[in-house]
Amino acid sequence: MFAQSFGRGDFSVSGCRVCAGPLQALADFGRQPLSQAFVRPDEVSTEFCYQLAVGICTDCTMVQLLHEVPTAAMVHEGYPYHSSNSTVMRKHFQDTALSWLDNELADRRDPFVIEIGCNDGVTLQTLRDKGVRHLAVEPSGIAGVRVHKAFFNAASAAAIHSADGPADIVYAANTICALPDIASVFAGLAVVLADDGLFVFEDPYLGEILARTSFDQIYDEHFFYFTVRSVQNMADRFGFELVDVERLPVHGGQIRYSVARRGRRVPTPAVAVLLTEEEGARLTNPSIFDDFVARVDLTRDSLMSLLRRLTAAGHTVVGYGATAKSATTANYFGIGPELVPFVCDSTPAKQGTLTPGMHIPVRPPADFADPYPDYALLFAWNHADEIMAKEKAFRESGGRWIVYVPDVRVV
Ligand code: TMP
Ligand code: ZN
Repeated sequence: MFAQSFGRGDFSVSGCRVCAGPLQALADFGRQPLSQAFVRPDEVSTEFCYQLAVGICTDCTMVQLLHEVPTAAMVHEGYPYHSSNSTVMRKHFQDTALSWLDNELADRRDPFVIEIGCNDGVTLQTLRDKGVRHLAVEPSGIAGVRVHKAFFNAASAAAIHSADGPADIVYAANTICALPDIASVFAGLAVVLADDGLFVFEDPYLGEILARTSFDQIYDEHFFYFTVRSVQNMADRFGFELVDVERLPVHGGQIRYSVARRGRRVPTPAVAVLLTEEEGARLTNPSIFDDFVARVDLTRDSLMSLLRRLTAAGHTVVGYGATAKSATTANYFGIGPELVPFVCDSTPAKQGTLTPGMHIPVRPPADFADPYPDYALLFAWNHADEIMAKEKAFRESGGRWIVYVPDVRVV
């Protein structure tokens, strides 16, 4: 599937990752660096680039990346551990685990929960503290919970099944959209999910990305941009069935999908409601990106002219949150250190590096107040409430936030 050498070449996929059907191009954001490839100052010449473009499968409607970088190019020595340090997200995962104890797991004897890729580990830690059998399936491992260090697929699922038995819930948050070999995930589920178990996963929702012009959800690690229709088709293709959907307010608007083995549960009315809504919004139609792309370019023009105007007038602007998303924003728009001299971020592994592609220095949050800039460009807009509350003194000092989703505003 891949060209031989990294750094150049065409890494386009040959067909839909779900059904091998034909892909129709929808939007192209140009050459981009890997979103998490924060570079040391001496490394900038070896940066890898790929073409960031999305398309839709005209058979199963799955919206997905049209190119894919070799895994070897993604494995980066300084790969920053992905932790959002967000109290809102911690609470979200705690509440998720606690709600299972009250509902899905309430009547089960000695239930067993698997999480694929486990973020900060909060969901499983919450279950552990309640004495629930749990297992993280994750190549990198995480403190405080039981881990099976592997990718989730038929082989690892078989090993888990023989050691621990079937899983009542297999959960994944912000992970399934990042697993291009989706068939291998369903092959694992077929092995380890209990007959009456649930596969529960939550990821960014294409309907929200389009409604809020949150184009920066599109980057190398998000292979899929799910809709209820495309997830229903995907589940069906692999012998499962979409039985519930729930909209979540986190990360700019997600959906939590519940998938069961086919015929095991009656789908809730919420599935049909959202399917109808998607048809009304023409979400399954290849024309969906037509005005989205125009709105993204409007955001680009208005943000870039604002940043240039402020800089020319001698105002200081600092970035807040060196998110993976902001790689798309900075590189597609062309935001470099001449407009935003540094970006602060709470992740220690990112501090002291340069952002991918545009090479904006990353510094610790303490530098934000030393002294406060006139404006802060909120790259981590998905954590807006939490960050603005934490940095209350910035506004009190006369500082202003610049946000660009759903459109450019100074607040
Ligand atoms: P995320 O959008 O993937 O959750 O990443 C959020 C990034 O923003 C991550 O690099 C950490 C950073 N961040 C801060 O610097 N301060 C904060 O208060 C929060 C919530 C996140
Ligand atoms: Zn398809």
